[in-house]
Parts: sequence; C-alpha cells; structure tokens
Amino acid sequence: MVLPMNTIPSTLGPHVACIMDGNGRWAKRRGLPRTEGHTAGEENLAEVVRIAASRGVAHLTVFGFSTENWVRPKAEVRHILSLHKRLFGRIEELNANNVRINWIGRPFDEPGARTPAFVQRAIRQAIADTASNTGMVLTVAFDYGSRAELLRAAQLIIAESNGDAIISPATMQSHLYSPELPDVDVLIRTSGESRISNFLLWQIANAKIYFTERSWPDLGATEIDAALALINK
Ligand code: FPP
Repeated sequence: MVLPMNTIPSTLGPHVACIMDGNGRWAKRRGLPRTEGHTAGEENLAEVVRIAASRGVAHLTVFGFSTENWVRPKAEVRHILSLHKRLFGRIEELNANNVRINWIGRPFDEPGARTPAFVQRAIRQAIADTASNTGMVLTVAFDYGSRAELLRAAQLIIAESNGDAIISPATMQSHLYSPELPDVDVLIRTSGESRISNFLLWQIANAKIYFTERSWPDLGATEIDAALALINK
C-alpha cells in the first residue's frame, strides 16, 4: 500500500536547526575553563534567538544536551544544566520577542530518561509562560537523541496496533516527540565539525547544511543570513 507523505501544516517562515558546537574550544583559546565557554554559548543563544526572530524564522531548534552528553565530567554537566535553567528563565525576553518555548527529548517518565527535576520544572514553566506567544517557536532538545526518538516512534506504533501496525512517513511523524515540528530547512553546525551527531535525523531529510568554522559563542547575524540564503539555492 502506498501511503501519503506526512501533512504537517506548513509554516510561514523557515525552520532553522543548530548544533551549537565549540564552546569548549572557544574557552580554551581564551585561557578560560570550559564552563565559561558554555556560559558564553547560552548568552549567544539568547542573541541568536533575537536575530532569528527578527529574520522571520518560524522554528529555531537547538541541540542543548544530548543523550550522549551525560558522560561528560559531573561539574560540566551541572553547569550546562544550570544554563538551561537560565535560558528557560528568560521569560521576559522571550515574551518581548513573541517566542514560544518547546522541548524535545526523552519523555520525563520513560525508562532511561535523565532530565533532573529542576530542569523539568524549568521546561514546564517556560512552556506555560510563553504559550500564548505567536511568533517563532524555540525548541530546545534536552536529553535528546534522534535514534531514541525514531525507535520510540516505531515501538509506539507497534504497541498501539493490534498486529496490523502501519509504519509510514505519516505515522512515524505523528509519533515523534514533537509531531508538529516541520521539516528542517537548514541545519547549522558550528566549530568546523561536519557531523550530524544524532540530531533530528528524520526532520533533516531534505535540509540544507551550513557548516562554519566559527565557534558557537561567536556565531552571529552574518552566518545566520548566509545559512538562510542557502535555503532557496
Ligand atoms: C558543544 O560544545 C556544546 C554542548 C555540549 C552543549 C551546548 C550548550 C550550550 C550552547 C550552552 C547553553 C545552551 C542551552 C540550550 C542553555 P563543546 O563542549 O562540545 O565544545 P568543544 O567541542 O569545543 O569541546
């Protein structure tokens, strides 16, 4: 049987995704601890949100913390987690930019999920406090891995069926963590790495990819505009 492709409603602006790499190297070059690089990374994310919103981006999806990142030194993990709390606490700024917060990652109550309670609370609060905004959607991937997302989608489809599971593009899409997220138009990866790192494998099927040598804390309007310009090339 041939099934139709998914029918996610199209959005007005593009969907930009970012792998925010190079915070550690940014700090090292300055003789600073890696944690300072992450702090600068969070601050730059706030700036990138403003730039993207001003360019009419409909969806900005960022890789905040992966299922693989838990093996990093404890103090670094703690610091990155606290930065998520800081980001999700930027409610005034998010509201001023009409930005709605969304989150993707292993659902808090599922086996294997690792999001600590204080980050769960920050995520829930930010989603609630920005729910009525109508502009750009900022989706933060936290405790996220794309293979886990895809395996879960397939497992859910099978579990919900009576032995007649239909695994199609449409049913896969509707079982993703955030089914309403449209396909990515352009994926940006900073810091000279040219890997996908298990990020949004389903959603980037047709995306352009913009690799830049710049570290995440230095990414600015010039690169964002260059990435956006790739979309219709
Ligand atoms: C990669 O830099 C970045 C991360 C592991 C996580 C991204 C986190 C931030 C940008 C901080 C704040 C973000 C949010 C969403 C609050 P790296 O440590 O791998 O850098 P390196 O490759 O130079 O070592």
